Amino acid sequence: MTVRSIVLGCGSYLPEPAVSNAELATRVDTSDKWIVERTGIKNRHIAPDGVTTSDLALEAARRALASAGLTAADLDLVIVATTTPDETFPSTATRVQARLGMTRGAAFDVQAVCSGFVYGLSVADAFIRTGQARTVLLIGAETMSRILDWSDRTTCVLFGDGAGAMVLGTGEGAGTSDDRGILNTKIFSDGRLHDLLYTDGGVSSTRGAGHLRMQGREVFKHAVTNISAAMEASMAEAGISVADVAWFVPHQANQRILDGTAKKLGIARERVVSTIAEHGNTSAASVPLAFDTAVKDGRIQRGDLLLLEAMGGGFTWGAALLRY
Ligand code: ACO
Repeated sequence: MTVRSIVLGCGSYLPEPAVSNAELATRVDTSDKWIVERTGIKNRHIAPDGVTTSDLALEAARRALASAGLTAADLDLVIVATTTPDETFPSTATRVQARLGMTRGAAFDVQAVCSGFVYGLSVADAFIRTGQARTVLLIGAETMSRILDWSDRTTCVLFGDGAGAMVLGTGEGAGTSDDRGILNTKIFSDGRLHDLLYTDGGVSSTRGAGHLRMQGREVFKHAVTNISAAMEASMAEAGISVADVAWFVPHQANQRILDGTAKKLGIARERVVSTIAEHGNTSAASVPLAFDTAVKDGRIQRGDLLLLEAMGGGFTWGAALLRY
């Protein structure tokens, strides 16, 4: 018998208002044409002043719990993957824990920028497989709008705010790729690539959050290579091929990165879940946002084999293979 982390439910939340490229172009020297051609993004959602990452996380969490048919009392652990916490401390996860009315178990944040949700899956899966938790709420939530330099058109058009969540429970399998649940997770990082994507501030250096800085072209080159390698490692370990995977659920960074990765691995475009047009790059929230969208619209069905992937600042990157 092999313990498996199974997906019991999912949910997501995008704050209003949605800001279209055309609206953005009235404030930033850009155009709908440039953004769509370079990235595939049409809208991003920007949380109003006073609405924080934990507000978005809480709404996604409530939806995920409802879809799982569970309440906060059933949870042993809350993990929030975020790069834009409400406060420096305590963790956003403990705020969510309190606001859900959960009075036991543990809660903590995971920081791996855009790879946060895949890292979080790896952590949640380890807790479940080692018996430290039976039911885990994993959330990816971000207010990226708060760390953007709105005078830098090379970055501010790319990102948005949002949250997605997944409830994971404990199941049993035979130890084969036919099992339901997480089959494996692969996470990687290379801290030498810091300068390609970072914030120019932080608590211990500038006493502030800083703004997102990125060398877009360089990030692009590494993204396709790293994401493909993580996906290949995950599939190889499970002994499966691209043809066995029903849906690829990528981090929604840029449509061209999605297309480049699909082309490199020979994946048909129709099997890649893309939601980037509606919300832009929401960092750790993007994988569960895409996942929830494809579950709710009926594309992802129970029993489907799914490959999730992400890459972000650090650099960090990874993949997770799961049977829904
Ligand atoms: N609107 C209009 N023009 C712009 C904008 C804008 N928002 N931003 C840049 N430009 C201009 C530049 O000034 C430049 O003009 P010039 O030729 O007169 O000098 C021209 O457009 C081309 O600029 P490049 O930076 O070379 O454009 P590129 O084709 O590389 O596209 C982009 C930029 C979209 C950022 C691309 O490099 C990219 O997608 N990189 C990946 C970055 C990414 O997705 N990061 C997400 C975080 S990491 C992750 O999640 C994987």
